[in-house]
Amino acid sequence: MKKIMVIGALGQIGSELTVLLRQKYGVENVIATDWKTKTDNKVLAEGPLEYTDVMDKPSLRIVIEKHQIDAIIHMAAILSATGEEHPNLAWNVNMGGLYNVLELARAYNMERVLVPSSIAVFGPETPREDTPQETILRPTTMYGVTKVAGELLGDYYVRRFGLDVRGLRYPGIISSETLPGGGTTDYAVAIYYDAIRYKKYTCFVKEDTRLPMMYMPDCLKATMDLLHAPFDNLVHHNDFNVGAMSFTAGELAESIRKYIPDFQIEYKPDHRQKIADSWPMSVDDSAARAEWGWTPSYDLDAMTRDMLEKLEQKLG
Ligand code: NAD
Ligand code: SER
Repeated sequence: MKKIMVIGALGQIGSELTVLLRQKYGVENVIATDWKTKTDNKVLAEGPLEYTDVMDKPSLRIVIEKHQIDAIIHMAAILSATGEEHPNLAWNVNMGGLYNVLELARAYNMERVLVPSSIAVFGPETPREDTPQETILRPTTMYGVTKVAGELLGDYYVRRFGLDVRGLRYPGIISSETLPGGGTTDYAVAIYYDAIRYKKYTCFVKEDTRLPMMYMPDCLKATMDLLHAPFDNLVHHNDFNVGAMSFTAGELAESIRKYIPDFQIEYKPDHRQKIADSWPMSVDDSAARAEWGWTPSYDLDAMTRDMLEKLEQKLG
């Protein structure tokens, strides 16, 4: 991989992954693209930043040709909560966009494509504890539907066209740099911001809601490790479960109270509760561990300590 295009580079994960990729491959060799064209992130703005809309194939082609792109990290998506508000947009961006990306990767003989999937591929009929790698995939959100189809499409391109497409099922990602973009797990980020600003938070899921989560440094490590794993070691391609930690909203609040003892939380579940209830509480990631050596580093308290430190600096 000599010239990497990151699509959706201004989002929660793309914004940090792009910076990391630039440290490894060189600033000019990692092209950030997004349909947003402005960023407050100074580090990101220092390197190449181009406009693309994944639904508009020519906009992708222009950047691929201009920069001689040979690998794509495809982070652009409409997440679960926004996807339920705008299912048509979620279908068009997540499915139409992915199809455009894969077709262009095939046409330009790209070396590799990485496309994240999500715990949203699972549904209420899936076993919720230690959710197996191979299990029932019957999601109830449009986002989940597109993620299941995306995994299958990626595997199809591997089998049918020999294109190296890889993907992993991120759990809820928690980070301090860029806010999340409309997901069900966003409460696990917002709680830290409100803990610092107001010492209280109103949570949109119930206290006993347990979901699998991951801190951004582990998310970046997992993404880089899968991206660079030897192809021949992979039995799976686009659907790796990756676990790190699993906690309830109440346990998250308790963890924050270790550092901010007077932190208060109230619970006012909204429409996102139903989505959270349809997802796993924890996942079995033994395939990722066996095929590319996945191991997480952060647990809940280590993450809380780091998040609060970083946000105190950021928010003053
Ligand atoms: P995000 O919403 O924070 O960022 C997505 C970026 O894509 C945004 O900058 C947005 O402007 C851009 N984008 C959206 N539509 C576009 C379009 N049509 N053309 C070009 N750019 C477009 O999302 P994220 O959290 O960074 O997620 C990245 C990937 O990881 C997605 O595939 C998402 O489904 C997956 N994922 C994320 C999480 C999480 O907790 N963050 C969990 C599971 C899976
Ligand atoms: N964090 C994501 C969401 O809540 C999971 O894919 O939509």
